[in-house]
Amino acid sequence: MATPVGKTAKLGGNARFSRETHREATHAPNRAYLAQYVRKGGVGAEIGVFWAHFSEVILATFKPAKLYLVDPYHRLHGQTYPAWGPYTDQGRLTVAETLAAAKAVQASAPDVVELREQFSTEFLEGLAEATLDWVYLDAGHKYEMVRDDLAAILPRLKPDGVILGDDYFADPKAAHGGVTQAVDEFAKAHGFALTVGKYCQYVLRRDAAPTA
Ligand SMILES: C[S@@+](CC[C@H](N)C(=O)[O-])C[C@H]1O[C@@H](n2cnc3c(N)ncnc32)[C@H](O)[C@@H]1O
Repeated sequence: MATPVGKTAKLGGNARFSRETHREATHAPNRAYLAQYVRKGGVGAEIGVFWAHFSEVILATFKPAKLYLVDPYHRLHGQTYPAWGPYTDQGRLTVAETLAAAKAVQASAPDVVELREQFSTEFLEGLAEATLDWVYLDAGHKYEMVRDDLAAILPRLKPDGVILGDDYFADPKAAHGGVTQAVDEFAKAHGFALTVGKYCQYVLRRDAAPTA
């Protein structure tokens, strides 16, 4: 008799692993406070979408007029994710599963959400200058990746636009120290004020009050 193909049988893995139990499911609502930094009704992009946990929060709390969800999905990972420990169920998570969630978010607000299966720089280079009111950057976390993404965001950001992102750790030797280094360098080079908020979130603004 054939084995029923449920999620566990198919993946041969952790039966408790699901979108609902994923650590991004807890992390996403914790970041809702970032809504205070963005103009409601703006044009924004989440770069690095994965299972679209935070996309849902963005849609509900940032209340964008236009939301680009940008992630290359199959073009970067093929059929299954790399073995990023429990984050991808040791490499058993399929790209089809995460992409389906992003498509569901798009379908929930088709006039607002546009899913782009693109690389960050590919997407950004296709935008007109000064298009974006805000960006939430949570894509590649290596120093060079964040540096290049921030450089590509800059000309597409409106003069009063805001860059937000994940995984800013005070200790540059931490796992995602490359994010911290790239963000610090960008802020200094381009005169952005940096705010680091709860849950390792960073906010880069041009118009923050000067420090004493
Ligand atoms: C940490 S996950 C994003 C989590 C998501 N923002 C959330 O809060 O639930 C990082 C994602 O970035 C994507 N990614 C990696 N390199 C990228 C690139 N160059 N452009 C866009 N997305 C990228 C990966 O495919 C992965 O889905």
